Amino acid sequence: MTRFFSFLIPLVFLFLVMYPQSSFASLKSNFYRQSCPNAEHVVKESVAKAVSKNPGIAAGLIRLHFHDCFVRGCDASLLLESTSKSRSEQEHPANGQSLRGLEVIDEAKTKLETICPNTVSCADILAFAARDSSNFVGGISYPVPSGRRDGRISLESEVGNNLPPPVPDVRFLAGFFTRKGMSITQMVALSGAHSIGVSQCQTFSNRLYSFNATHAQDPSLDPKFATFLKSKCPNSENSKKGQTIRLNLDVVTPNKLDNQYFKNLKKNRGLLASDQVLETSGITSKLVAKYVNNPNLWAEDYAAAMVQMGSIDVLTGNQGEIRKNCRIVN
Ligand code: HEM
Ligand SMILES: *[C@@H]1O[C@H](CO)[C@@H](O)[C@H](O)[C@H]1NC(C)=O
Repeated sequence: MTRFFSFLIPLVFLFLVMYPQSSFASLKSNFYRQSCPNAEHVVKESVAKAVSKNPGIAAGLIRLHFHDCFVRGCDASLLLESTSKSRSEQEHPANGQSLRGLEVIDEAKTKLETICPNTVSCADILAFAARDSSNFVGGISYPVPSGRRDGRISLESEVGNNLPPPVPDVRFLAGFFTRKGMSITQMVALSGAHSIGVSQCQTFSNRLYSFNATHAQDPSLDPKFATFLKSKCPNSENSKKGQTIRLNLDVVTPNKLDNQYFKNLKKNRGLLASDQVLETSGITSKLVAKYVNNPNLWAEDYAAAMVQMGSIDVLTGNQGEIRKNCRIVN
């Protein structure tokens, strides 16, 4: 019996070599070469214009791609607005008021619909925009395989189980990544995105005022840094609604995507509990040290992890659709 089927073994092997990751193989570089040769250029121009006015938009765009890919795959489900029948991913508190850069995607989409209608997906625009943002504020460039199609479903109820909350538990955080086929190393590399952008006081204020039963203040937080944070985020801010104070995730180089984030962790100056735990946990502290000492290695790992993140559960071929307006299904 075994001998009878043994001829299959080299075939299976050949298949595995040719298609290392099946979801990956269906995206390809320069997908729009024939159908819309200027697609990537148009996105890049919209991103350049917005980021030169406000570098924070680069952070917003990178985060949009992450939040899109982790919920229902990279299908632009995050961009869909709620309808009278259902509340979309945007309604979840992890997205809510904190999303930035949606208007940049809209602008690129509008331009692309005039030069090549019904051709370039919103999901690909998001992936290109995240890459261009990484390039403008970090000098990190990489080719983005494309050919994603847009989904037709977006549910608030699917966000909580798929986006990691900012808690100090590496195993728990890692689970969100490994369930998407990503490694702990890739989680650490991508957390380097917190080298730019901002967070609302309410996201980390428990570390300043109400950590746990024995410590009001998180002991893994540098006391001087804690004093600074308290001056910016008074305790009363917790109960305030509406106007929200936001602080830089990287206090040293807030608008530069670089390995300063990891240097901050070494000094107990990570802003979120989920940032600082990467340094305090033995599971990830060696990776943090490696990225502190080798900025080029970090940039390479970040780029490769972004490409892999961009391939999570993508729709391709004739799945899904090419949306005309990124905020509503056709
Ligand atoms: C380890 C898992 C992660 C957790 C727990 C986490 C959590 C958060 C939180 C809570 C915020 C601030 C939200 C607010 O208070 O307004 C934030 C911001 C941000 N996150 Fe993450 N994140 C994680 C991984 C990632 C990844 C993988 C990326 C991208 C590849 C990313 C990119 C960003 C960026 C750029 C911002 C700033 C957004 C802006 O300024 O508009 N994060 N993250
Ligand atoms: C509070 O946090 C500290 C530092 O992480 C820890 O050592 C301590 O066991 C915690 N106490 C409680 C009651 O959870």
